[in-house]
Amino acid sequence: MGYKIGVIGGDGIGPEVIAEALKVVRAVGVDLDTVDYDLGGARWLRDGEVLPDALLDELRGLDAILLGAVGDPRVPPGVIERGLLLRMRFELDLYVNLRPFAGFSVVRENTEGSYAGEGGFLRKGTPAEVATQGSVNTRMGVERCVRFAFDLARSRPRRHLTLVHKTNVLTFAGDLWQRAFNEVAAEHPEVTTDYCHVDAACIHLVESPARFDVIVTDNLFGDILTDLAGAVSGGIGLAASANLNPERTGPSLFEPVHGSAPDIVGTGRANPLAAIRSAAMMLEFLGEADAASRVAEACAAVSGRAGTTVELGDAVAERV
Ligand code: IPM
Ligand code: MN
Repeated sequence: MGYKIGVIGGDGIGPEVIAEALKVVRAVGVDLDTVDYDLGGARWLRDGEVLPDALLDELRGLDAILLGAVGDPRVPPGVIERGLLLRMRFELDLYVNLRPFAGFSVVRENTEGSYAGEGGFLRKGTPAEVATQGSVNTRMGVERCVRFAFDLARSRPRRHLTLVHKTNVLTFAGDLWQRAFNEVAAEHPEVTTDYCHVDAACIHLVESPARFDVIVTDNLFGDILTDLAGAVSGGIGLAASANLNPERTGPSLFEPVHGSAPDIVGTGRANPLAAIRSAAMMLEFLGEADAASRVAEACAAVSGRAGTTVELGDAVAERV
């Protein structure tokens, strides 16, 4: 019996890149028992459902979830993002969003911050309207994410961890993050640390990314920073991510950083490498380290090559 993997191709180019990722996993010889889930914008447009409760419960029994991309321009903003992707991150407690780039990795807190959905309207639609949007930072939530980042940093040759925040302006959340970081740092004398404001981190990512080894940051900063990191390190077509439940109390979710790119659906121009690299992260997390590194190496050898979605998938599958 193979690993039980839930596959959510999703919208736009999602199903195209996921087909290549599954092709590569099969080529590397890992036995997957896949279950397809029809979720995303298309499903909502068809029958108004985003993520039925019974289906969410079914997902809890899987070994992992592989997701292509969700989002459709015909669906109001947030319906699919909050109702499907964020709901899975919250309900399955996928509290680390790990995004590796060439030379450094970003550990993004994935269940709190501005994504928690705290806020609301007052006098909506009137000239005196008020909208608030809070940021939730719990000591437990921050500390567990920071601990994961220290564990990752100590496993890497450079053993260096940078906290990225905006402690000079977000003084309450920043203070909590800095204190949690300092306290966990004291338990890890083998890891060198520093701190960088998020705006300065953007400059460094463009001008001197080599200063970074592991970055740990909050949900929204991590979202923005990892798009920038993807863009400056080979393009968003290569950027992979893992939404992890490190305690393994349920499945973790693996997805490319890129979106559904409805403008290029069906053209063969979608780069499958981000999805394939995400599948490699899945293999690694499942304990298939050898298969994972073979896929990662094959991706590195193929990246930069020209070709259609299927041609690049074939090229990686041949190499593994
Ligand atoms: C990402 C995406 C999501 C996020 C969206 C689709 C909700 O941009 O995974 O980075 O903001 O986290
Ligand atoms: Mn994003």
